[in-house]
Amino acid sequence: MRFENSGSPENPATKNATAVEVCDLSHRYRVGDRTVTAIDGVNLLVDDGEFVAVVGPSGCGKTTLLRAVAGLLTPSSGRVRVLGKTSRSARQDRALGLVTQDPGLLPWLNVAANVQLTLDITGRGADADKRVSELLERVGIGQFAAYVPGQLSGGMRQRVALARALAHRPRLLLMDEPFGALDELSREEMRLELLRVWEDERTSVVFVTHSIREAVLLADRVVVMNGRPGRVTAEVTIDLERPRSALLEDKPHYQELVSRVRNLLFAEPVPSNASGQVALGD
Ligand SMILES: Nc1ncnc2c1ncn2[C@@H]1O[C@H](COP(=O)(O)OP(=O)(O)O)[C@@H](O)[C@H]1O
Ligand SMILES: [Mg+2]
Repeated sequence: MRFENSGSPENPATKNATAVEVCDLSHRYRVGDRTVTAIDGVNLLVDDGEFVAVVGPSGCGKTTLLRAVAGLLTPSSGRVRVLGKTSRSARQDRALGLVTQDPGLLPWLNVAANVQLTLDITGRGADADKRVSELLERVGIGQFAAYVPGQLSGGMRQRVALARALAHRPRLLLMDEPFGALDELSREEMRLELLRVWEDERTSVVFVTHSIREAVLLADRVVVMNGRPGRVTAEVTIDLERPRSALLEDKPHYQELVSRVRNLLFAEPVPSNASGQVALGD
């Protein structure tokens, strides 16, 4: 599915740029006197407005890839372009939103202030109050604006984190197992909430998960990573109609796509040191 990017100012240089372009990306971490190669030769293209899910077993380099796209680490080699710029410059332009497993809210600020903070920093404060209350409604916590994070459940905190990441209308949303710490019911609710928000905001998304079902429910395309060091080994176009709902999970085609992704994930030989980390999906 492709969308016109309607939210950003008209800028012919960037308007229809590819959201993410990763070419031959490798990254090695230094651990004491040795190095660990986390990813090796990863390629990934994400179109403007596209929702791409990245699935793969623990340790295959999903977080490393996402951090490189977010400009939070400098890769050992290869090239990353985000919205036609370096990822660092896209980050400086506030074109990125990031949600991780840890909501990372400031405990002394209430919900509205936590979300507002992003807007204050970017100096887009004029309509800030309206934008914040709209977003809190949209992620289903409108009535909790005055609560502090300690008074919220894990699912509610993650809703605040999502609202905060969207507040400055990023053109690219990067999500690293954002629902990984939630119980199954909250997780299902959040998936549907994210779908609804995405239909409205039409942001490009890279969504990292180890849940095959989640990836197929949400994405336009599922990218499969595997191995140590991690590589992209396959991808599957998810040709399910939108808008999507939980009812989709009963449809034979959804189940076929889930099986296809699962088979691709397990097509790779599992390295001996990865035993116990192959429990994928839910
Ligand atoms: N900061 C770090 N220092 C050293 N090694 C790391 C660091 N972060 C990740 N790694 C290693 O890089 C590999 C990929 O990790 P990661 O990107 O977190 O994978 P995933 O998100 O798929 O679980 C793993 O072997 C992990 O141990
Ligand atoms: Mg990770």
